[in-house]
This record gives sequence, structure tokens and C-alpha cells, in this order.
Amino acid sequence: MNNCSYNNGAVSIKTSKETSSCIIVIFGVTGDLAHKKIIPALYKLFTMGLLNEKTRIVGIGRRKYSDMEYSEYINSALEKLTAAPGGSPTGDFLKINSYHEADFTDSAEYPDIREYLKKLAARYKICDFLYYLSTPPANFEQIITSIHASGLSRPDFLDVSCAGSFVRVVIEKPYGYDISSARALNEKVLSIFSEDQIYRIDHYLGKETVQNIMIFRFVNGIFEPIWNQKYIDNVQIKVFESEGIGGRANYFDRSGIIRDIIQNHSLQMLSLIAMEPSASTAPDAVRNEKLKVLQSIRPFDGNEAAKFLTAAQYSAGIIGGETVQAYNREKNIASDSVTETFAAIKLFIDNWRWAGVPFYLIAGKRMPERLTEVIVTFKPAPHMIFNSLCNMSESVSNRLVIRVQPDEGISLKIFCKRPGFETELQPVSMNFDYSGSFEASLPEAYERLILDALNGDATLFMRSDEIEAAWNYITPVLECLKNKKIELKNYAAGTPGPELCDFFGLNLC
Ligand SMILES: NC(=O)c1ccc[n+]([C@@H]2O[C@H](COP(=O)([O-])OP(=O)(O)OC[C@H]3O[C@@H](n4cnc5c(N)ncnc54)[C@H](OP(=O)(O)O)[C@@H]3O)[C@@H](O)[C@H]2O)c1
Repeated sequence: MNNCSYNNGAVSIKTSKETSSCIIVIFGVTGDLAHKKIIPALYKLFTMGLLNEKTRIVGIGRRKYSDMEYSEYINSALEKLTAAPGGSPTGDFLKINSYHEADFTDSAEYPDIREYLKKLAARYKICDFLYYLSTPPANFEQIITSIHASGLSRPDFLDVSCAGSFVRVVIEKPYGYDISSARALNEKVLSIFSEDQIYRIDHYLGKETVQNIMIFRFVNGIFEPIWNQKYIDNVQIKVFESEGIGGRANYFDRSGIIRDIIQNHSLQMLSLIAMEPSASTAPDAVRNEKLKVLQSIRPFDGNEAAKFLTAAQYSAGIIGGETVQAYNREKNIASDSVTETFAAIKLFIDNWRWAGVPFYLIAGKRMPERLTEVIVTFKPAPHMIFNSLCNMSESVSNRLVIRVQPDEGISLKIFCKRPGFETELQPVSMNFDYSGSFEASLPEAYERLILDALNGDATLFMRSDEIEAAWNYITPVLECLKNKKIELKNYAAGTPGPELCDFFGLNLC
């Protein structure tokens, strides 16, 4: 165990190594995601000394920017970070950034991109490239094709010897629109790059709390023996957002909550909760086990759709004291839109560990609060000897809650005797929260994911077969909605969605 060090009971497993010198090329650098997440994440890595000092970052966009304007743009993306106490000035970071104007949908512009990158690579003696596609998903295929056609997919275009160098591509979500488009995209990308060059992002996998699911399950030996159908009654995975659709109306109305959240974030968390321990922590060992979970999900039964799916759209309501309008009154949304902003799916994983255990994937917009959590409800004790339990309002089941965001932490609900002469039971919580236990703040998911892509570690990225297995399950769900096999319900913004208790026969409220 060369990578392990021990200090006061903490075990540190060194996984990161120094990144190699690399040119990071961001397609879509002027977009919302680059501004909000990618540029700040790169800056944080830079200030922490985690980027190789020769690293260069090239933004590709179609806007006209002088060097000065681009610096202002980068600075505007870093305002929050540099204004925070201890925030560093951005000068040195600006020096490693540059901008190249190009329309990435025009293949004729790629020879120019190539010449630009070639000069930069020669100047800093760099052979490695990371292309980050932070662009509209409709452009992924086209950009990959043009990267290849212009020779950028292999370091040969540098005309120097680049033994051992890499070219990698990071692809944003959504990866595909349904099973056939995801397959077509996989086919295209895999015809140019090998699987180990492709980093398909689901940023949930970069969240500290989501990564902790594997540590929690496979390092703390007390949970694994009860982590199965014998002891677990049901599992809920909730992803609630209080926001509406912001400036992403066109994207969201075409997508809906099932594509936007459940197909990727919820199913990825499900696979971590339900997977078998992997043979090692090697990327493929972990991804093989996650894949088996996705492949074991019982196919959605469209004939009994109402039993397994509920979908709804928000109407006007109140959140945080403010009145918000109905979804079909939002800017750029048609008044007759039938896009679901809330969905709850009940599914089963048909394998030995999980036979008969319902998993509920619940996601919604305009919920009362922003919250992502996994709730594992255990079966009650087989026989109750305390009569006083009949006075209890809630079921006597232990509940483990993994809080992914906000207030990240884990809590276990147990029952205790309320002090006094009566035998009265009361649920109490054993809590672990990150903020109370660790001084350092949690790193942003994008910091971890970009670092991993630079290091060539694909564990936290989705493999082609995982993506297809997830779409295989979800596509019939979407077809059922499209064909109106279930009624689209309504819920007031600021409420936790439509009534689910009767629907699932379980107290989910
Ligand atoms: N935003 C998020 O919170 C978020 C979260 C998760 C995943 N994602 C994914 O991340 C990707 C980017 O999202 P986004 O929200 O940043 O989208 P966006 O704001 O629409 O940004 C797309 C970028 O692509 C540029 N662009 C479009 N067509 C171009 C062309 N022909 N040539 C050059 N540049 C062009 C746009 O340039 P202009 O500025 O000139 O229009 C813009 O900079 C998408 O795949 C999205 O699904 C986004």
C-alpha cells in the first residue's frame, strides 16, 4: 500500500499526481458553463499549484475579443473567487490564458485553430491536448469530426516527436437525447478516439458527497452486511431544485426533468448506491460494477406506466416569499408546453442483492428548497415488543440519509427511549456533517473532474456502455410520456410536487 499514509487515525490514499504540461482548449468558452464553472475551476487548480506550470488554456468562441477584453471576461468569471478572503490576484492566471476567435461549426476554420495551437505548443514545448466541449450538445459530433479532419485528434500535427503524449476530449452533458442518438454519438466519437481518451461528464460524480458513497459503503464494514433486500425496505434518490429554468428555456423545454436530471445524475447515484464492491479502484473495475446495476434495472413497463411513473408541471406558486409564475408562462415557453418539470420513477433492480426493493427517483424544479439526498429506509425490526409504539406517528424504521447538497453530510435515524417513567420512543438522529468535521471547504465538482481528466483518470466519468444502459432504461419512459400514456399532473411552485403517497403506497411526503 505505497500510496497510503496514516496520521492520527486518518488514512490518506494519494491518488493525484502532477499533471503533465498540456494545452486545454475550451470550445464554447463564452458560454454560461465556462463562465460559471470551468474557468473558476481552472483558476482554483492553478492557484493550488495543481496545474503543470507550462499548462496553457485556449478559449474558442465566435465573439470578437481583444486580449484586453478577453482578460476582462476571464476576470469577470473569477470575481467571486478573487473577492473572497484570501483570493489571489488573477494576473499570473491571465498569462496562461488566450482566446482564438472561430466558429466551431465551420470546418474551414479548423486549419486556423490548428496553426494557432501548433505555435503555442512549439513555444511552450507541449505535446498534450485536452479538448473541452462546453458547447450546445447539437454541436458535439460536428466538432469532434472537424477536430479529426483537421488532424487535431493526434499529436502528429505538431511535426515533432511526441512519444507518450495524449489527446483527450471532455464532453459535456447531455450525452444524447435518447438511446439512438446516444448510440450514434458514441459511434462517431469512438470512431475517432479510443474509450480511454473520452471523458463524458456528469458533474454529480465530481461532488465530494457522491464520491463519498463508495467510501461510506466499502470502507465502513458495518454497512455492507445489511446493504441488501433482506434489510433495506426502499431507497429514494431526490434531486430538488428551487430554481425554475432561468435562461435555459429552449434547452429545458426540449429536455424535461427526466432527461436533464434523472437519466444522468439520478441513475449515476443509483448505480453507486446499488453496485457491488469493485475488484479494485481502477476506472474500469468501478465502471464495470456500475454498469451491471444499470443493466439490471427491470425494463420500464409502458402497459402499467401509471404504477411506475408520475410526471407533473409546475403552476404559479410562492417560493421564499416570492410569487413565481407557472412553467407555461415562463419566457420562451409555449403556453401549451407539456414538458415535465417534476418526475417520480419507481424501479426495481433485478439481481440477488436488490430483488423486490423499490428505488424511487424523484426530481423536480421549483421545489420548496434546493436539495439532493439519498434516503435508505431499513425494514423495521421483525417483531415489536413495546406496546407504546402504537402511539407513534411515524413508522419504526431506521433511515440513513446521505445529503449530497446543501448541508452535506450523513445522518442515521434511530429510535431512543424518551427519558421518563413511560416507555415512549422517539426518533433521533446521529449526524455527520462536512462543515462541522472538516475545516476545508468542499472542492467544486468541476475542479476534481478537470484534474482527473488531466491525470487520465476516468473513474468519475461515464463510459459509453453506461450511457447506453441508462438511455436504454429511460427511452421507454420518455416514449410513454410523449405518447401521453400517463396524465401530466400539476403542482404549485414551492410545493414538493404532486401527491405521491397513494401513488407509491409509501410515505414519501
Ligand atoms: N450552463 C450550465 O449550468 C450547464 C450545466 C451542465 C451542463 N451544461 C452543458 O454544457 C454545455 C454548454 O452549456 P452552456 O450553458 O454554457 O451553453 P451556452 O451558454 O449556450 O454556451 C454555448 C457556447 O457555445 C458558443 N457557440 C455556439 N455556437 C457557436 C459557434 N458556431 N461557434 C462558436 N461558438 C459557438 C456560444 O457562443 P455565443 O456566446 O457567442 O453564443 C457559447 O459560448 C452544454 O452542453 C450544456 O448542456 C451546462
